[in-house]
Amino acid sequence: MEHVCFEYTTARKYIGEEVLLAQKKVTEKAKGVLLTRSGKGCDYLGWLDLPESYNKEEFVRIQRAANRIRGNSKVFVVIGIGGSYVGARAGIEFLGHNFFNSVDEKYRNSPEIYFAGNNISASYLNDLLQTIGERDFSINIISKSGETLEILLAARVLKNALVAKYGKKEAARRIYVTTGKQENALRKMAMAEDLETFVIPDEVGGNYTILTAAGLLPMAVSGINIEEVLKGAEKMHEHCYEAPYEQNSAMLYAAARNYLAENGKNIEILSTYEPYAERLAEWWKQLFGETEGKEKKGIFPACASMTNDIYTLGQFIQDGARIIFETVINIKYTGRDIFCKAEAGNPDDLNYLVGKSVSYINKCAMEGTNLSHTDCDVPVFIIDVPERSAFALGELIFFFEFSCAISSYILDINPFTQPRVEDHKKNMFALLGKPGFENRRIDMEKRL
Ligand code: PA5
Repeated sequence: MEHVCFEYTTARKYIGEEVLLAQKKVTEKAKGVLLTRSGKGCDYLGWLDLPESYNKEEFVRIQRAANRIRGNSKVFVVIGIGGSYVGARAGIEFLGHNFFNSVDEKYRNSPEIYFAGNNISASYLNDLLQTIGERDFSINIISKSGETLEILLAARVLKNALVAKYGKKEAARRIYVTTGKQENALRKMAMAEDLETFVIPDEVGGNYTILTAAGLLPMAVSGINIEEVLKGAEKMHEHCYEAPYEQNSAMLYAAARNYLAENGKNIEILSTYEPYAERLAEWWKQLFGETEGKEKKGIFPACASMTNDIYTLGQFIQDGARIIFETVINIKYTGRDIFCKAEAGNPDDLNYLVGKSVSYINKCAMEGTNLSHTDCDVPVFIIDVPERSAFALGELIFFFEFSCAISSYILDINPFTQPRVEDHKKNMFALLGKPGFENRRIDMEKRL
């Protein structure tokens, strides 16, 4: 069986054996800090244990709740933001139908799934309510702190709609809360209204919650086999822990990107060649952006959805400031294919493609782009993903989580805090008159 694997030979011009050897000591030290749980933020390393020792009782409740939602709802709304949003969506889109919400139900085999709480748009919420219409629906409110304004606001709007439709008692059966153990506004509401609650463990940082109920419940509702996701993560866990440096994908990825950053390549673009992987790249962006970007350090994470972004970013990548390297997700077997057929008279000059599959043509676009980027001083790494499956998704998730933690320890920063994310919240609360924020200095122009 093939596994998710980091491939650096495409960047051989920049990263040779000797470079990786030079990075070995610092990378092994960072891994040591991680595994001995002795580094900064070591109270938040619970994610390391999730694949092997997920709380069994809660796992069964997640599956039960998912089955209930699948049985009684035509629409399911997932309410979250940041780490409490990107993971669930990444998984659902990676494994789901490309036109999930609009395809005939028999192909989707789950409720339609929408996301809210990831913006503060009245237009978005109104359109969402209109889209739900008279249909049966349930919601999952996800917030580790239980205090995030975007989430609580959207939750209130959707909860009101549920109560108006079903009355308080039935509405309560359709609201699922995923939050931290500690007392918070969301937990208080869940207790007062007797809502089913799942836990984001204290010891899992907000940016590492994809394999908690925050990611697993919405994924299960969409029909994903979440046991397989955890099995894949467990397999990658074994690899990350046990494989020696020279064969350890997560360590080599961390080592290689650290070397490039030290040599002026401060932007990493994660490129995908399948639209269903775009949200996975967004999850990666959140993971690495929020984890590494501290103390004036870190690599800026950006995503490119190919082949479209060849036509938006390609010029810059090849000819702009020489600060970029690229990591390409290469999904080897992508499933159903389409073959190009001959057309009499060759009206569009495409007959040279006859017999070739769309996937093969896509791979040629990828190889061609990799080569043109490498030729222009953009190192390109590949992450080979054997297939589009729940198991491979689990492997990918743990691979990125582990390499991100090692990268952060190489930079000597705390991977699991995001102090600056709080700043805008405090300003906004002061503007909105939230009790406790009256004395905050506000010299912003109000565009109200
Ligand atoms: O990754 C993180 O920690 C953040 O992006 C949070 O997930 C985001 O701020 C939402 O926080 P919470 O889940 O506490 O509502």
